[in-house]
Amino acid sequence: MRKSNTEVLQHTSRYLSLLSANSLSLEEKHAFITETVENYAEYYNRGFISYRKSVTEAGQFAALEWSGQGSVLKDLLGREYIDCLGGYGIFSAGINHPKIVQAVTTQLSRMALNSQELLEPWRGALAKVIADVTPGDLQNSFFINNGTDAIEGAVKLARLYTKRHTFISTIGGFHGKSLGLLSLMGKASFREPFQEGLQDVRFIPYGDADALEAELVRSDAVGNRIAGVVLEPVQGEAGGVVPPDDFWPRARALCTKYGALLIADEIQTGMGRTGRMWGVDHWDVAPDIMCMGKSLGGGVMPLSAFVSTAKIWEVMIPNPIIHSTTFGGNPLACAAGLAAIQVTLEEDLPAQAARKGEYLLRELAGLHAKYPAVLKEAHGKGLLIGMEFPVQEIGWKVASGLFKRGVLVAGTYSRAQVIRIEPALGISMALLGEMLSRLESTFQEVATQL
Ligand SMILES: Cc1ncc(COP(=O)(O)O)c(C=O)c1O
Repeated sequence: MRKSNTEVLQHTSRYLSLLSANSLSLEEKHAFITETVENYAEYYNRGFISYRKSVTEAGQFAALEWSGQGSVLKDLLGREYIDCLGGYGIFSAGINHPKIVQAVTTQLSRMALNSQELLEPWRGALAKVIADVTPGDLQNSFFINNGTDAIEGAVKLARLYTKRHTFISTIGGFHGKSLGLLSLMGKASFREPFQEGLQDVRFIPYGDADALEAELVRSDAVGNRIAGVVLEPVQGEAGGVVPPDDFWPRARALCTKYGALLIADEIQTGMGRTGRMWGVDHWDVAPDIMCMGKSLGGGVMPLSAFVSTAKIWEVMIPNPIIHSTTFGGNPLACAAGLAAIQVTLEEDLPAQAARKGEYLLRELAGLHAKYPAVLKEAHGKGLLIGMEFPVQEIGWKVASGLFKRGVLVAGTYSRAQVIRIEPALGISMALLGEMLSRLESTFQEVATQL
């Protein structure tokens, strides 16, 4: 209900003073936590109150996120959590990496957003650097603020270039939840309520190159030719599903043969997450369009991009505002992107992810051998690892047991019995070891309840 300006100013002043307070008394902290839970329930979405472990499993007081550094974050009460969730893939460089924060604060002190008329230096610079670090002839970029918008742009570009409108996606695939992208959604429960009017998309089982070929042959034969094939290098929301080694190379060859654009969704797998700079690098494949996001902003700013070849990009030139957005490519985000790429290469985060991922998979295989009724298997590439449990309830128990032991892990949208381990790529071996010991103690507890 609308309030007087005086009342609104009371609220904003109080929140801004909490925001800038150097220290709060225990009483003030508890009051603020209670108020935040009420704000969520009354004004945001009360569904989250029973959904978030930070409310259901945090003990007497909900966990209110307050600060973080590297792979550890703290709640308002000073409780510490080892971050193996990584904000669902945004913290590959860790939380608040000093070099990335520095680049953003330097730009912030100069000018936060852009006039929209003068040329934006960091936008040009980031586009050039992205061309330098992506495979094949990928060259031209467009910047936006989240993964969904990157895939939306890629789909529009593929439609413009091919003059076709049908796409192929995969069962279990996740590319975003906008009305446009629900068409590509590989999980029924998100798609069904909005089915009416979704665009024409054919689904194949992920990793099945024969099925992809059959679909392309079928569509070609009836003249409903495919504009693009949208694939994740490793399925993220489905829980770290790795395709057979022939999948990407065959998808590349088939797309070329049938004139469909190969669109790599690297939103989650890019920036070193799977042990190479890009997921497609595992198979030496150059897609026609690559989408990146999440860690591209270095865990400091929202930033995403879609990138394509100069040849395909020609269709964007005659009317450059055929696709545009106000905040995309803003100077803060581009400064973050430049610093994120610098840190990724300087610290060789892809190699760190490869090494630590192999270590984790070995340790998890050992835990599976010890607790087969709890952990069914573990799979993934680099530091995008899925722990698969026999049933959802066990997965839930493990995630809440870990939360109570101060470890954050990622649930999955597409397969609820899988939990992802997705830490910062530079996480220390000591913290990984600590996480594994808390995981084993959780498994022990869950095993006694079966
Ligand atoms: C592979 C993939 N594509 C697209 C998206 C959508 O990105 P965003 O949530 O930033 O819009 C996600 C998000 O989890 C993702 O994992």
